[in-house]
Amino acid sequence: MSRVWERSGSGPPVLVVNGPNLGALGRRDPGHYGALDLDAVMSRLVKLAAELELAVEGRQSDHEGEVVEALLAARGRGVVAALLNPGALAHTSYAVRDAVEAAGIPVVEVHLSNVHARERWRHRLVIASASAGVIAGLGPLSYELGLRAAAELASRARRGPPSGQAAEQAR
Ligand code: DQA
Repeated sequence: MSRVWERSGSGPPVLVVNGPNLGALGRRDPGHYGALDLDAVMSRLVKLAAELELAVEGRQSDHEGEVVEALLAARGRGVVAALLNPGALAHTSYAVRDAVEAAGIPVVEVHLSNVHARERWRHRLVIASASAGVIAGLGPLSYELGLRAAAELASRARRGPPSGQAAEQAR
């Protein structure tokens, strides 16, 4: 694992997993990815997590297998939901897709850039079919909205499936 941000805050923990090249944020193609580095993105998430009464922790790895391992280990470590920016693995990795499916927690996929407005090969998102949802194109706000979504999905999972009219209203 290239980088670890230790758990911070109190409350149910949400894991933020970043794939290849996201360690270079801040100096990498700021036209697409903005000026903030991953430390700054994580600091913003730590602040928001406090508001949402969650804890947050992070990983960044340039290795596909480490992304898989982080996802598969999460639930056993008490993590209730995850945000995943797979980087370019979003377009290629069936292994990460299967890990998202097997993780046993809701995984919200996030992208800083609007992948649908870029090269054609970025339009294909192979992990998305296993993700709880995808938020793309909003810069660091994609992560922040992703954390709000992860918090809501995790608390719904803890409450159990709604039934009848409650199920209608929850949609
Ligand atoms: C990215 C989009 C991917 O296409 C790219 O390979 C990345 C970053 C994003 O956050 O916009 O590494 O996931």
